[in-house]
Amino acid sequence: MMLVYVSRKGNTKKYADVLGKLIEIVPVKMNEVRDIEGDLVIIGTPVYNHHRVSSETKEFLAKFKNKLAKCKAALFTVSSHKNEKEIKEIMKLLPYPPVAYASFKTLEHRHKKLVGDLFGTKYRNIGKSEFSCVKTFADKINEAREKL
Ligand SMILES: Cc1cc2nc3c(=O)[nH]c(=O)nc-3n(C[C@H](O)[C@H](O)[C@H](O)COP(=O)(O)O)c2cc1C
Repeated sequence: MMLVYVSRKGNTKKYADVLGKLIEIVPVKMNEVRDIEGDLVIIGTPVYNHHRVSSETKEFLAKFKNKLAKCKAALFTVSSHKNEKEIKEIMKLLPYPPVAYASFKTLEHRHKKLVGDLFGTKYRNIGKSEFSCVKTFADKINEAREKL
C-alpha cells in the first residue's frame, strides 16, 4: 500500500500525515514516487482553479496509468468548496472507481484557531471535525484492504 500526496501550501500534507498515522503508513510526496508498490494506492490532491485537481496529480495518474490499472486506488481531495467536478475529473483518469473517496475542507483559514490534542502537538493544526472525517475515510480504506 502507498499513500501519495501533493501539497503546495501544506493543507493536503496535514491531512496525509493524519491519515498516514491512522492507517500506519508514511506518506510520500507525489514527485518522489519512482514506482507504484503494493495493491492499493491512496492519492491525496488539492483542488485548484475552478475545481480542478492539481496538474501534478493529473500527470501522476497519466504516468502510472498502466501500473494503477493493476491495483486499486483511493482518493481524497482538499479544497475550499465541496464540488463534484474534481471527483468526476479524477474518475476519468482512473480505469475504475476508487475503493474510497473523501473530500476534505482546507485548513488554511482556520488553522490558528483549531485545537487538536488528538495526536499531541505535532497535529495541533487539525480540528476534531476534520479528524472525524479523516477517521471515517481511514476506516473505509481499512475495510477495502481486508477485501483485497
Ligand atoms: C490559486 C488557488 C486556486 C484555488 N482554486 C480552488 C477552486 O477552484 N476550488 C476549491 O474548492 N478550492 C480552491 N482553492 C483552495 C485550495 O483547494 C485549498 O487552499 C487547498 O487546501 C490547497 O491545498 P494545499 O495547501 O495542499 O496546496 C484554490 C487555492 C488557490 C491558492
